[in-house]
Amino acid sequence: MPGLFITLEGGDGAGKTTQSKLLVEWLQAAGHTVVVTREPGGTDLGVELREIVLHRRGAMEPRAEALIYAADRAHHIATVVRPALERGDIVVQDRYIDSSEAYQGAGRVLGAEEVRELSLWAAQGLMPDVTVLLDLDPTDGRKRLDSARTRYDRLEAEKHDFHTRVRQAFLERAAKEPERILVMDAAGDMSEIAAAIRERIQNHLPHPA
Ligand code: TYD
Repeated sequence: MPGLFITLEGGDGAGKTTQSKLLVEWLQAAGHTVVVTREPGGTDLGVELREIVLHRRGAMEPRAEALIYAADRAHHIATVVRPALERGDIVVQDRYIDSSEAYQGAGRVLGAEEVRELSLWAAQGLMPDVTVLLDLDPTDGRKRLDSARTRYDRLEAEKHDFHTRVRQAFLERAAKEPERILVMDAAGDMSEIAAAIRERIQNHLPHPA
């Protein structure tokens, strides 16, 4: 496909939103057409699924949770992301398959490989060209969330151990795919992180920005 698919990953409170904004501004200033989106919740259907998976009260089986994220992904990739990539646009997406592997696979202990397979089936095998992993100690992530949040979603509300497994799983995936995944220390300086991200993306751009 002619477009470029970029995803941002990391624990809660790692600063994905800020980095996504800076990256998108830079790409647009260079004249690229950028589609900014996220999972869960990048479509109308996804908005409903997001509300269920993040805020529904009461118990939810981990496999049911994994399937809701996969359902959101299946619809989003088919109706938003693939069409954009086919047009030649740049897609900047908050969270994707690596989040499912980390949160459902490791956090919920469903198994990284199984959850990954489920996601790949949902997305018909689509993988990002570049992924930025904003790595942060969950204790620091929690501190940042505490200052910004009035309510926590079902995943954010999980215990420290859960978030430690999530972080570990992200780092393991990154170690397996160093070509795709750029790991940044999210505790570092915001503008230095942004510069390093730009440098990595630059190599993938169709025309020099
Ligand atoms: P996010 O949109 O990053 O949260 P916010 O914008 O509120 O900071 O992600 C929502 C939550 O969903 C986050 O806790 C991680 C979780 N998540 C999964 O557990 N599995 C997935 O496949 C995805 C995409 C997200």
